[in-house]
Amino acid sequence: MSEQDQPDDATIEARLHEQDYFRPPTEFVGQANVTDPSIHDEVGDFPEGFEQYAELLDWDEHWDEVLDASDPPFYEWFVGGELNASHNCVDRHLDERKNQTALLWEGEGGEQRNISYQDLYRRVNETAAALRQAGVEEDDVVTVHLPMVPALPITMLACARLGAPHSVVFAGFSAEALAERVDAADSDFIVTIDGYYRRGDFLPHIEKADEANGSADRDPETLVWTRHDDVHDDVGVSDDYTMMADLLAENRRETVEPVSRDAEDPLFLMYTSGTTGKPKGCQHRTGGYLSYVTATSKYVLDIEPEDTYWCAADIGWITGHSYIVYGPLSLGTTSVMYEGTPDHPHKSRMWEIAERYDVDIFHTSPTAVRMFMKWGKEHVEGYDFDFRHMTTVGEPIQPEAWLWYYKHIGDESAVIVDTWWQTETGGHLITNLPALEDMKPGSAGKACPGISPALVDDEGDEIEPASGKAGNLIIERPWPGMLQTVYGNDERFIEEYWEDFSDVDSGDWHDWSYKAGDGAVQGQDGYWRVLGRLDDVMNVAGHRLGTMELESAVAEVEDVAEAAVAAREDAQKGEVPDVYVVVRDGVEESDAVSQRIVTAVEDEIGKFARPANVMFVDDLPKTRSGKIMRRILENISNGDELGDTTTLRDPSVPEKIRDQIHGD
Ligand code: WT7
Repeated sequence: MSEQDQPDDATIEARLHEQDYFRPPTEFVGQANVTDPSIHDEVGDFPEGFEQYAELLDWDEHWDEVLDASDPPFYEWFVGGELNASHNCVDRHLDERKNQTALLWEGEGGEQRNISYQDLYRRVNETAAALRQAGVEEDDVVTVHLPMVPALPITMLACARLGAPHSVVFAGFSAEALAERVDAADSDFIVTIDGYYRRGDFLPHIEKADEANGSADRDPETLVWTRHDDVHDDVGVSDDYTMMADLLAENRRETVEPVSRDAEDPLFLMYTSGTTGKPKGCQHRTGGYLSYVTATSKYVLDIEPEDTYWCAADIGWITGHSYIVYGPLSLGTTSVMYEGTPDHPHKSRMWEIAERYDVDIFHTSPTAVRMFMKWGKEHVEGYDFDFRHMTTVGEPIQPEAWLWYYKHIGDESAVIVDTWWQTETGGHLITNLPALEDMKPGSAGKACPGISPALVDDEGDEIEPASGKAGNLIIERPWPGMLQTVYGNDERFIEEYWEDFSDVDSGDWHDWSYKAGDGAVQGQDGYWRVLGRLDDVMNVAGHRLGTMELESAVAEVEDVAEAAVAAREDAQKGEVPDVYVVVRDGVEESDAVSQRIVTAVEDEIGKFARPANVMFVDDLPKTRSGKIMRRILENISNGDELGDTTTLRDPSVPEKIRDQIHGD
């Protein structure tokens, strides 16, 4: 094409907008890991089809049975098999690629570490030896409260090597949230760090462990990594703690034989917000989980060992567990890991990193895409990188944001997959296999091989497939990546995920369906569009928060008589929490009270959960039985119609609230 034939920006824009589907680029299809549509039939041959996922791993003992479904919903995968996750992610690559880089780490200030598979092997072994010396034994739960530094994946793999399930708590969680998770997981170990960098400042992260140790019921042994070789000058580390540096020095060149774990032994816990009460410890098994994330990393993310892969998520959430640590390392690829924020010290930080390491596969969230879009394409232009494959995860992506991502980050030559899944599902469940299905902006795509999504109405009656009608998203058949249970609470596992749409008295797995908690629509083309949570869970910048958790944090403030939290749509973060507060008699509605409420949320959960608005009202909308109708508050927050208010005890309350906050 000659210069003057080049379409201008507006023409490209118009053309992009007219299109519903985008073909994966031919060059992509030519090299993809899956190009044969028969994979859907092969893996869909239930349950034996999933054996090909397990065959991607090294097993110490082959399984006897693919699935034991005799006691639903307590399914067992690859029964009788034995394996070790750390062996699969590290040791097994040494023969072929010990000098290949496993982790390319970049600190916020530009420090770089290049960790080869051989280095990783050494560091995981020494760390496992250190943990063992500190008293960690097989089946002990180790709470890990680390930011994005190499010590985090190394500690996880060291735990896996010992057969000690890790429970990683996102570094942004507060001391209270950490203490709560230590107690909930019956954990006797916290692994933390003196501090790390955020926007140029050194954060004294250790303080959270100090406080958590003060408030937890348990008295965990606290092991401390150092962000630098020496403890940072400004940070005091208690003498009660053990420095990892000391333990590592004593265990130099020590090796630890990977423990053979039963396929069903837990690999880790990951706490996530639910609709009621405290966070739930999603318990993931070793064999099924590792098989599932390895296979989806290969087939959906199209990872090959030669690639440089960058998932710009935090390992403290499930995305990082499955698609920074376990899946990619199990495939023996090179992963980029970045400590800092995307705009420090400048708004091209991401593209500078992509260019520096020549990243092939890039993984991010719609929230991040909207942010890049707001900053403008000028921050991307001029950087020389060429992604072959891009992913989004965490929330629905608006077609506009998708198109911007496709055009300005993908240069219209990368394939994009929008992956729908959850902490509970372990790995992707709805997403296209990138060489097989056309991309459709705004739609998560088709079901993954072997996965059976369906829709039911509120009564549990099946909605006809591909009807374009919205319903409750369920998954009909079990899959290897699914959670085993809620740690220590089988009843809650059944209540939260199964009982609404299953026949709980049946011992036949066909009568059981997993409830995702999301609303969805399946179009005539078979593509799924996920609409968002139907329960009291909100999604703030890709972080999952329970309304109840926020409300109980607000209720800690003495001035508060009653409070309700509603999700308000936000152009940037997807959703943000609005707090509606009725103060106690005699308390003045003031900025000081709002500030106390914001601080309480930061203390109980973390800064990332900070309310967007605190609004004082005289009353909350309640049903006759006293239940707060958050839906109405959400409509008020979003400036929508109020909806049906006839079931309210006092139907005039919503109007009054609206007048109070909007002042009209
Ligand atoms: C909830 C799960 C999965 C890892 C990150 C979040 C929403 C997730 C998508 C998507 C639309 C999505 C759902 C889901 N969600 N991915 N591609 N399209 N919505 O994990 O914290 O467990 O949250 O995130 O509402 O239920 P999570």
